[in-house]
Amino acid sequence: MNEKYGIQIQNLRKEFGSKVAVNDININIKEGQLFSMLGVNGAGKTTTIRMLMGLSKPTSGDALVMGHSILTELSAVKQISNFSPQETSVAPNLTVRENLEFFAKIYGADKEKASKLVEEMIEKFSLQEVEKSKAKTLSGGWQRKLSIAMALISSPKVLFLDEPTLGLDVLARRELWSIIEKLKGNMTIVLTTHYMEEAEQLSDEIAIMVNGEIKAHGTLEEMKRITGKDNLEDAFVSIAEGSGKTEV
Ligand SMILES: Nc1ncnc2c1ncn2[C@@H]1O[C@H](COP(=O)(O)OP(=O)(O)OP(=O)(O)O)[C@@H](O)[C@H]1O
Ligand SMILES: [Mg+2]
Repeated sequence: MNEKYGIQIQNLRKEFGSKVAVNDININIKEGQLFSMLGVNGAGKTTTIRMLMGLSKPTSGDALVMGHSILTELSAVKQISNFSPQETSVAPNLTVRENLEFFAKIYGADKEKASKLVEEMIEKFSLQEVEKSKAKTLSGGWQRKLSIAMALISSPKVLFLDEPTLGLDVLARRELWSIIEKLKGNMTIVLTTHYMEEAEQLSDEIAIMVNGEIKAHGTLEEMKRITGKDNLEDAFVSIAEGSGKTEV
């Protein structure tokens, strides 16, 4: 196999007391792909992402992020990945520009490089009209855009987007889709969403998580084929409600 993987998840498990949040999952995500993790509330998506980011220690198992173990090479993992969390991560009392500058500095850019990166993000995300506004005054959609722009400041090779369009209006959501589409291919992206249309639009591959387990993994076409449904929402319901592992 010559295929290069952005992420290789190996028997990854997380328990919280007696609750098994992630139950020995195995998945390979190809480098440069956009991989969507779907699942009902509490399925284990955020817990998985937090382990892959090194924010939460697995109970057992391991994962390789661009070949680096989250157990033994965490600092390398943190250098090459970044994320826009389920709850946005912007500093409320800083302006949009200050938030970006702050992140550029955290990632060790010198003054010249930092200002170049900040300009690039303001341009890419069309943040000009809000750059002097304090982040706390922005609407949810603008905050999400800023949060993703901040995640990109470090030029990550792996980007985690946990429900990036949660609660956004249709236009703001589509704008974020087009931003995410432009990122595709340049980095490995792991996305979670409850919006099936979003997963249909953006994903190269999809996994469906149920009770901490991966019940199905494949392309959109494969999801539809194995369930005999003609859209992802019906395929998702069929897999999430069904029992037993579905092989693709
Ligand atoms: N810090 C924690 N302590 C105890 N239990 C936790 C903790 N974090 C998550 N859990 C539990 O682990 C399970 C998986 O939660 P997780 O947040 O990963 O789900 P999710 O798939 O991201 O759900 P959602 O779609 O609602 O964001 C849930 O039962 C949750 O209550
Ligand atoms: Mg979650």
